[in-house]
Amino acid sequence: MKFREIGLIDISAIFSIRLATDENKFTYEELVQHGISHESVRNKLLTTCKGWLCETNNMEVGFIIADKSSGEIWLLAVLPQYINKKIGSQLLNIAENWLISEGHKRLWLITDPDKNLRAYSFYLKNGWLERKIENGILYMEKAID
Ligand SMILES: CC(C)(COP(=O)(O)OP(=O)(O)OC[C@H]1O[C@@H](n2cnc3c(N)ncnc32)[C@H](O)[C@@H]1OP(=O)(O)O)[C@@H](O)C(=O)NCCC(=O)NCCS
Repeated sequence: MKFREIGLIDISAIFSIRLATDENKFTYEELVQHGISHESVRNKLLTTCKGWLCETNNMEVGFIIADKSSGEIWLLAVLPQYINKKIGSQLLNIAENWLISEGHKRLWLITDPDKNLRAYSFYLKNGWLERKIENGILYMEKAID
């Protein structure tokens, strides 16, 4: 298993993974409505965001993108066949460390408020806390000591 930084050439792979998740599932059109398109990912990677991919057997199986402009974990997904192998936790750790190195003391993200989804317990397990639910969106944060 290998972790490496995302390049612009990886944008198609990122969307293949994000569109293949079994939970927190979105169509491409729905992602676009949330501001997530090939163009916006490209623009963010060229400006305020950095991302990392996990590869195994020469295949991309998970990725994360974080935004240094606000300390946000923007996108995170792992292919269903590769969940529960700590790939998500390792990606999150890499992105958190980058945001911390950029000076952030309070990291944040938004996700679905459904506590039955794996994402909810995954973030809690990784030290994140609920901040608020607003307009059906759960805001979580992680304070850095
Ligand atoms: C959330 C996600 C990124 C986690 O990735 P992962 O590689 O499976 O994460 P890890 O293996 O590091 O951690 C797995 C954790 O998921 C949670 N989890 C796994 N199965 C679960 C289940 N059936 N019910 C509740 N929580 C569960 C647990 O907290 C588990 O930790 P544990 O193994 O210590 O109990 C992945 O499940 C995913 O891609 N989900 C779909 C997309 C998504 O929700 N993205 C994030 C929010 S938009």
